[in-house]
Amino acid sequence: MAKRIVVFGSYVTDLTGRASRFPVPGETVLGASFRPGPGGKGSNQAVAAFRAGGDTALVTKLGCDDFGRIARDFYEAEGMATDGLLEDEQHETGAALIMVNEQTGQNMIMVVIGACGCVTEADVEARRALIEQADYLLVQMEINLDALARVIRIAHEAGVCVVLNPAPAQPIADDVLAMVDIVTPNETEAAVLTGVQVTDLASAHSAAQAFLARGVRRVIITLGSQGVYCTDGEREELIGRIPVKAVDTTGAGDAFNGGFVTALSRGMDLFDAARYGNCTGALSVTRPGTAPAMPRRDEIDALYQRTYGG
Ligand code: RIB
Repeated sequence: MAKRIVVFGSYVTDLTGRASRFPVPGETVLGASFRPGPGGKGSNQAVAAFRAGGDTALVTKLGCDDFGRIARDFYEAEGMATDGLLEDEQHETGAALIMVNEQTGQNMIMVVIGACGCVTEADVEARRALIEQADYLLVQMEINLDALARVIRIAHEAGVCVVLNPAPAQPIADDVLAMVDIVTPNETEAAVLTGVQVTDLASAHSAAQAFLARGVRRVIITLGSQGVYCTDGEREELIGRIPVKAVDTTGAGDAFNGGFVTALSRGMDLFDAARYGNCTGALSVTRPGTAPAMPRRDEIDALYQRTYGG
């Protein structure tokens, strides 16, 4: 039977403008295009896992408004289950203001998490069974942290493998981190959480040791152009970046995490699953947007085969 993935995290509507360059503070630049669409790190990772073929459920919180409707319409069009969705009658669906530089594909983001900052204890209890029945729980930090800690504890006590993508980076309590099986920061998030400035393999190794010392069992650090560092505490490996023409890097980390956990759920080991995540992330940056840019299983499998064989 397929292993079940539950993603607990944010949905926000992405309001994305593209321009030939970023403005400097106080400046207005003319944009080339604007598009609203489904985003939020939790939702993006769930979409990435679902499109990669993972048996995926998303737990997130929407407002009762037009932005919440965009989310529901998108999930229904994708064929994703919506029974994990929570609704908030008082707070609006979150939104992210995103600027994309058309020359480089880089982005700048300000996110207001709205209803996702208001997940209550009762909300978590209402989704307890879903969480306890998962094989993998994938979480981020774009949601209120007391709810996050509660969800991690429920999963850990039920023997679910907990994967934390600590984005956006915020300090995390030792007792919560000790319940995490796999942590997947990028280099800046790793620096915030460990105090180690990650610039190369040696510093990635040092940051990973700091996570392992706090009780995390396996560490993946995404290093942008330098690739992906992985360790299970005994073996370590630096997996190279796959060269592609980047159109929009927004959501690349989300694509990595969704592909990575899906590969784990299919029985790949940590290192091969990171290679699968690497392929998922590489494909996602070749097209604009976040959730709509997530690649499907056949494309990821084909790139994996071309890049790594097997
Ligand atoms: O990781 C990318 C996501 O971060 C965007 O979709 C935006 O919603 C922000 O939350």
